[in-house]
Amino acid sequence: MEKHPLPRLDTDVKNLREHLLPFCRLATGKIWHDPQGKHIVACGDSSDSKFIKQIFNKSQAVLAVHDPPYNLVMFEKQTVDEFVVWCKRWIENSNQILSENSSLYIWLGADQNDNFQPLPQFMIMMGESQFKSRSFITMRNQRGYGTQKNWMAIRQELLYYTKGSPAYTVQYTDIPKILKGYYKEVDGKITDNSERGKSPTIRSGNVWVDIQQVFYRMQENVNGCYGQKPLKSIERIIEASSAENELITDFFSHSGTTLIAAERTNRKCITIDIDPIFAEISIRRLEHLRETGKPGWQASNPFAKELSKLNRHELKAIGITE
Ligand SMILES: C[S@@+](CC[C@H](N)C(=O)[O-])C[C@H]1O[C@@H](n2cnc3c(N)ncnc32)[C@H](O)[C@@H]1O
Repeated sequence: MEKHPLPRLDTDVKNLREHLLPFCRLATGKIWHDPQGKHIVACGDSSDSKFIKQIFNKSQAVLAVHDPPYNLVMFEKQTVDEFVVWCKRWIENSNQILSENSSLYIWLGADQNDNFQPLPQFMIMMGESQFKSRSFITMRNQRGYGTQKNWMAIRQELLYYTKGSPAYTVQYTDIPKILKGYYKEVDGKITDNSERGKSPTIRSGNVWVDIQQVFYRMQENVNGCYGQKPLKSIERIIEASSAENELITDFFSHSGTTLIAAERTNRKCITIDIDPIFAEISIRRLEHLRETGKPGWQASNPFAKELSKLNRHELKAIGITE
């Protein structure tokens, strides 16, 4: 199977989806409990408050990292008002399961060809919620989209909100401090910033230029997933806004990046996806990490074993070509 990466699972691959569904452990409304007792993966709608209550029972998370579909053309597009009404539902659900002092991060896109929707409308809705705005982070993607007549779109927006006063741990990049400056007198001696700082590298601010976007040659790549966030970005959020053994959550699991980041940083995670295929991929990615130490499949894919039983013609019929 090494030479047969899965095509994007959101494109017109009906036969492929039908072929993969019988291999998925979770039907809609079902919950997978980690045999090691650390994590939960559920298949269902994150905007459904009853379902969220059922999954969390009485547990409370200290951190939520959500990456919803952005209402861009690639997803089933709703009007921006409908989209924000839907967002309000899972934000209210997040409020129910987040502890008194907790953090909420949301990845969101802005359509530059359509008045940057849904970002401003989402921000206004959040202004009326219980959460307090804390930071507006931009992560730089290496590849972008655009034309020769516009600035290439390479930004990924990440909104940071809090409830109560959660702990926050300063994070450092791998970028060495090379610029001296910011002179200040300390104990009668003029010092520059590099002498005063505790770290030889630059502190992470709200513009992230040091994280590689996931692409097919990276070990963490999960074929078939179209919206995978880099593990480094989620691990940075987790390290900043939670402590070991605490519970974190992600309502839009997809390739299971938050789950994998939680496992690697020793947190517990409850994650949800409405699509049984992505719920299964999340579980398989965790199992694969535990078996091999690898965070993804690079050129292979989560269903490689099942697909290896098909011949070339059968593979072609479900949209997989060499
Ligand atoms: C942009 S992707 C998330 C990517 C993820 N952060 C990662 O790194 O793999 C959005 C995911 O949300 C899921 N989704 C869409 N609507 C949902 C809903 N109402 N409840 C739960 N999941 C939903 C989609 O199936 C998709 O897998």
